[in-house]
Amino acid sequence: MKPIPFPAKGLPKEHVLSLIRAFKAGDSDWRRGRLFGLVYYAGQEAEELAREAYDSCMFENALSPFDFPSLLKMETEFISMIGTLFGGNDETAGSMTSGGTESILMAVKAARDWARENRPHVKKPELVAPLTVHPAFNKAADMLGLKIVQTPVDESFRADVKSMNKAITANTIMIAATAVTYPQGVIDPIPEIGKLAVDKNLWFHVDGCLGGFMLPFLRKLGHEIPPFDFSVPGVRSLSADIHKYGYISKGVSTVLYRDRELRRHQFFVHADWPGGVYATPSLSGARPGGAIASAWAIVRYLGEEGFMRMAKQAREATRRLLEGIRATPGLFVLGDPPATVFAFGSRTIDVYRLAFQLKEKGWHLHAQHRPASLHMTISPCHEKIVEPFLADLRQAAAHLSEEIRQAPSGEAALYGMLGTMPDRKTAKALALQYLDDLYRLKE
Ligand SMILES: Cc1ncc(COP(=O)(O)O)c(C=O)c1O
Repeated sequence: MKPIPFPAKGLPKEHVLSLIRAFKAGDSDWRRGRLFGLVYYAGQEAEELAREAYDSCMFENALSPFDFPSLLKMETEFISMIGTLFGGNDETAGSMTSGGTESILMAVKAARDWARENRPHVKKPELVAPLTVHPAFNKAADMLGLKIVQTPVDESFRADVKSMNKAITANTIMIAATAVTYPQGVIDPIPEIGKLAVDKNLWFHVDGCLGGFMLPFLRKLGHEIPPFDFSVPGVRSLSADIHKYGYISKGVSTVLYRDRELRRHQFFVHADWPGGVYATPSLSGARPGGAIASAWAIVRYLGEEGFMRMAKQAREATRRLLEGIRATPGLFVLGDPPATVFAFGSRTIDVYRLAFQLKEKGWHLHAQHRPASLHMTISPCHEKIVEPFLADLRQAAAHLSEEIRQAPSGEAALYGMLGTMPDRKTAKALALQYLDDLYRLKE
């Protein structure tokens, strides 16, 4: 398709906005609970608060705390409040970032630069992490020149600590684990891994991007949540995304450090630039004030009580979904997910076909591979869809077990095909080609 010429003349505001509304007609319906991930929705009231708080600082830029002391105040207050949520104390330090990927990138940079100072003999630094860590670690290792060594998980999909121990070499500077993992929603054995970190003086990062704003509240509700934060000796940094279970719009996460000395390794300063001394705490230069304001606002607005109420709703919806899925012939849940994220698979049904059938009924589940499964991240808004979803799931599963063949397409087909390809290089090349094609201008 030919490129679209840059518009010579503008359009009326209403026309422009109506075009956006029209584009959105094909988007997933997250407000009605039809999407299981990507958007975390806690209802209209929290949405309005997030929207208004964002709007109040939408154009302000946190690049200059001197020009916008309000943003600095909200950021430092926010970091302090959540430090206490994660077992921190007055030593705990942190930064706001644009998302989980940036938080992880910053923690890996801090670990690398800490090692440059404290382990100068290590010339080829390595990061040991289970296979289930988020690909942001692979991205960070790739960008920061670390070798990532990935270790197996046990039958409950949690990090196998013995394998991690074996994978540690004289070049290892960092280890990482997750609470909760994206693929199966489980918590890695953080205290055992923390012990490894202490014994071997390694930087240990806990990725709480997904579970960070859910687990502390489930624990307060009486659920058994093992220690995963700074209460565990050896944990040096922790990431937690307020744009996930904080129910605000995208663009804000946090990375915390046990103390300020550790955080210092995250900072970047270029002192000789003709534009002035350029010093930034994280990857971004300009940073959106709206994101900071909405993060601060949601914590102040909901408080512990509100977060617990949301956690209770999401966990209750999860419990009913897990029960319904386990009772559906042919389906099983992977591992024993303790929070609000899980995956299910089947020994009899092709789950990629199941995803396709569910999509036809308006449900958007993400397909996973190794093992083949469908992912669900549950928000408070899913409370109302448990029964209709389970009814459609039962019907689709029964239909498929009668061997009615239907070709999967789109994302389900991609995951299905790529997951089963033995040649991983070709799988990667196909995924790159898919991306290249996806981001081309189309009719
Ligand atoms: C466990 C975990 N870590 C990190 C990330 C990356 O977060 P983001 O997509 O905000 O960069 C995700 C995203 O789903 C995640 O589930």
